Amino acid sequence: MRRRFPLRASAAALGALLILSACGANAGGGSGDSDDSASGAEGGDGELGTVGVILPETASSARWEGFDKPMLEEALRAEGFEPDVQNAQGDVQKFSTLADGMIAQGVSVLVIASINSEVGGAVASKAQAAGIPTIDYDRLNLGGSSEYYVSFDNVRVGELQGEGMAQALEDEPGAQVIEIEGAPTDNNATLFHEGQRNVLQPLYDSGDLELVQSQPIDDWNNQEGGQVFEQILTSNGGEVDGVVAANDGLALAVITVLRKYGLNGTVPVTGQDATAEGLRAILRGDQYMTVFKPVKEEAEATAKLAAALAEGDTAAADEIAGDVSEDPEGDREVASVLLEPYLITKDSVKRVVDEGYVSAEDVCIKDVADVCSELGIG
Ligand code: GAL
Repeated sequence: MRRRFPLRASAAALGALLILSACGANAGGGSGDSDDSASGAEGGDGELGTVGVILPETASSARWEGFDKPMLEEALRAEGFEPDVQNAQGDVQKFSTLADGMIAQGVSVLVIASINSEVGGAVASKAQAAGIPTIDYDRLNLGGSSEYYVSFDNVRVGELQGEGMAQALEDEPGAQVIEIEGAPTDNNATLFHEGQRNVLQPLYDSGDLELVQSQPIDDWNNQEGGQVFEQILTSNGGEVDGVVAANDGLALAVITVLRKYGLNGTVPVTGQDATAEGLRAILRGDQYMTVFKPVKEEAEATAKLAAALAEGDTAAADEIAGDVSEDPEGDREVASVLLEPYLITKDSVKRVVDEGYVSAEDVCIKDVADVCSELGIG
């Protein structure tokens, strides 16, 4: 049975906060106050107040500044909030300091994509103590206290990576696989790996594939991912038939090493995030697949959930977050929005361009321009 955050109690606190802030500033009402003039609500942007968003880093993936930031800003404005989207640049102290500032500012809702569960959980507790509801965005804080989580079905993300690898190696019985995984401090990385193994473990067990080594990479550090991969490759006599890389950043680091040994384009590599660089690598034949996660949907679901929380509308919040995620560390279930991810190979790169996540100008550069023409991209 899911534990329920006493949203009604916090709604009262939140309502009081909104009325106070409305009296003192431009922040809007949204406190459920019947008379808008009393809450100081003015039309247009920000009538529901400000939503603080803290993103984890930029080094691990181009998605955070390229997709999440602009799409969250647009979705939050569409719901009547003023967005304040910041990036902690991989620094836990900065993450905490940004949160302190947003809490002091009296944001209506705090949205956090944490560097790790420890800092995320601490920030969520502090915000809730100030009467500010929090949403875990993209990454669940294990042992945390946010009552809502918005992400993708991350086990499914891993299954798509596993299916891509199995597909690429289906005619190579006994093929040797190296796994370069995400940060052990990121619950998503654990879920991605779980999904990959749902597909690959039976193939390892049957001998259809052979696992050389599986290695998590701290902080998703792309450079370290490349160095570790090269060490494993060297220790395996320079032999590898396929590489499971947990996102495009790691995939590109692996491909750089493969190119050094003349293996790029013959050794399939998986990825995730459908970044411009990852899509270019797929068009070149260096990367086999990526996973497209329509971040616009993630941003819009977060904004709608934030609006329900800012208005203390528990029923609406629970209606939006109809899925459930397990938090084994906190021994609890968390109301969630878990969106569908999509496998992207060479033939479906066009979809990511057509949906406006990347531009043909960004993807179809120089050596892949002809391939783009053949595939009708741009
Ligand atoms: C994960 C995120 C992925 C991946 C990674 C690197 O938590 O869900 O999209 O890019 O972080 O930042």
